[in-house]
Amino acid sequence: MTKNYFPDDFLWGGAIAANQAEGAWNEDGKGMSVADVATFKPKVAVENYKAQWHVGLEDIKAAKLTDDTVYYPKRRGIDFYHRYKEDLALFAEMGFNVLRVSIAWTRLFPNGNEDTPNPKGLAYYKALFTEMKRLNIEPLVTLSHYEMPLYLVEAYDGWASRDVIDMFVKYCKVVFEEYKGLVNYWLTFNEIDSVFRHPFTTAGVVEEKYADKKQAEEAIYQALHHQFVAAALAKKHLNLIIPDAKMGCMLTKVVHYPETCNPEDILLAQQENRNNMFASDVQVLGEYPTHVLNYLDDQGFNITMTDQDLSLIKNYTVDYLSLSYYMSIVTSIHADQREKVSGNLTSGVKNPHLATSEWGWQIDPIGLRVGLIDLYDRYHVPLFIVENGMGAKDEVEQDGSINDDYRIDYFQSHLEQMHLAIKDGVDLMGYTSWGCIDIVSASTSQMTKRYGFIYVDADDYGEGSYQRKKKKSFYWYKKVIETNGADLS
Ligand code: BG6
Repeated sequence: MTKNYFPDDFLWGGAIAANQAEGAWNEDGKGMSVADVATFKPKVAVENYKAQWHVGLEDIKAAKLTDDTVYYPKRRGIDFYHRYKEDLALFAEMGFNVLRVSIAWTRLFPNGNEDTPNPKGLAYYKALFTEMKRLNIEPLVTLSHYEMPLYLVEAYDGWASRDVIDMFVKYCKVVFEEYKGLVNYWLTFNEIDSVFRHPFTTAGVVEEKYADKKQAEEAIYQALHHQFVAAALAKKHLNLIIPDAKMGCMLTKVVHYPETCNPEDILLAQQENRNNMFASDVQVLGEYPTHVLNYLDDQGFNITMTDQDLSLIKNYTVDYLSLSYYMSIVTSIHADQREKVSGNLTSGVKNPHLATSEWGWQIDPIGLRVGLIDLYDRYHVPLFIVENGMGAKDEVEQDGSINDDYRIDYFQSHLEQMHLAIKDGVDLMGYTSWGCIDIVSASTSQMTKRYGFIYVDADDYGEGSYQRKKKKSFYWYKKVIETNGADLS
């Protein structure tokens, strides 16, 4: 690298979510969330990525009858709830100046509809953020990362119900008041667009409650609309309570390539890319894109959207756009005759030019650069990569070392492309790698799909010492941060 284009104030760190890390699912007054009913599902068929996420009414009923934490791994996480000081010290040793975490809504409002928050939940996050500040780690806090109170799913149909907006806003106001002075970077909904892929996990929408697929789809659009309104209201209250703080939205960036130069393939890929950016169009530009409104109309969907909703969405757009990036995908008008690949996010046509991870996700560092440029050219707001990484199985050697060169290769190639995107003119605020310490997988609830620089001695069944160990990549990332990205070797 000749010149270093990473800005001096670049935010370097990692990301985790409460429901995949904390454990302590029923301690200190915490209520059940949608994550506490998610079961262990080892790798499922490529064609069936949606099955990884499926939760139905019977599953909820069964989950409520048991305290089991083996079959429900998110209930145990990696015990971050009790070990956060040790983990933060390791992040500080790597040089993190930012850490993305989420607040479990159910630690503060166990059912979501209480009038006052649970003091023990408030105290936990205060202690967490205070310790982060002490270590000069800026908290980047997601308000909702697949952690909706289960009670709101059962009593209100999740986000399909308008009542949930008020309950979410009440929760946001409490946390803004409580953590002002400690938290300056906020995100509303993790991968808000993921409601189309896993409506239950993202928005508490149980598809089987609806008469048919069409009605379920209508409920999904309604739920998403309510989240857009809630996010705008969260931004409005953040402006009032912590005027200097920044609010972002969060998009799953999937880059779609056309399979050939056949104009029909090109058009299909363009449409997929536009669909991918639907939520960020709303949250950054402040308006529903016409193609989505026309789609809703064509389908005969009756989505309740008041003028007041639309003016909130218009007036309270975000300060920055954050994104996850894991893979690109090929679109083809002949998709049904092609070999497929799949991640936790999407499935599509296999790209012959790309390798895949052990879990079938296509590894495409250049796609990250393409995605960043597309987003910046479209929105002209600062971007923040808040998730990127590769799930892999790690081996602990006889001498206790973990030589995860594959992970270093993955990050190195992605950071190189990120650097080039900055050189291309993209305003990038920071980078938080996903699962900087091994955590429970969101889609399959596995432990053995590891993303971390720090190994956690726990297996898929919760057995192990939970001791933390530095992997080879720990030292590599430390050097990257120390040199502000100048040394990626
Ligand atoms: C993202 C989610 O979609 O992908 C994370 O925001 C998740 O919560 C990450 O962990 C990786 O997916 P998985 O299923 O491998 O954990």
